[in-house]
Amino acid sequence: MQKAFKIVLLGYMGSGKSTVGKELAKALQLPFVDLDHFITSELQQSIADLFQEKGVIYFRKKEHELLKKLLGQDSPTVISLGGGTPCYYNTMELLRDQQEVITVYLDLSITQLVQRLWPEKDHRPLIADVGSQEELAEFIGKHLFERRPFYHQADKKIKCDDKSPHEVVQLIVGDLF
Ligand code: S3P
Repeated sequence: MQKAFKIVLLGYMGSGKSTVGKELAKALQLPFVDLDHFITSELQQSIADLFQEKGVIYFRKKEHELLKKLLGQDSPTVISLGGGTPCYYNTMELLRDQQEVITVYLDLSITQLVQRLWPEKDHRPLIADVGSQEELAEFIGKHLFERRPFYHQADKKIKCDDKSPHEVVQLIVGDLF
């Protein structure tokens, strides 16, 4: 199905997938697609509304379908996934089976995820109702316990704590070529 070289960024919400993806695509002179934006534009609905109106199962199904659509496109691309994408419908297997896909996990500590996510939690359906930073840290800890086994199947893992998007891009490029 997959036809051209693609770099796929994955990691927890707030790990910088979109920011790093944009900068990486620029550095490599490739197009960039953020899967959340692609879903929003294909379905003409925001992620928050999709969760609320259609439910999480519908969202996960569409997310997987649209990822397959992106992977099938015949152009080299940098793609950033949603935080949950790797954890449903055998997505990591699908990605591993594509010869010209390289997956990169952006690994951030719980402490730094809390710092980034707390100020913007209201826009994120999964954590909008969390009441305090301590609660958020606990939520992320439990969530990562479930998700890390998927994230760790990535071809490359980048430790992102205390690094700017530019530094992360440099590390990815250094690791790739
Ligand atoms: C989700 C992460 C979000 C978005 C949706 C679900 C998750 O993407 O896909 O809210 O399950 O972690 P980002 O990681 O890009 O914020």
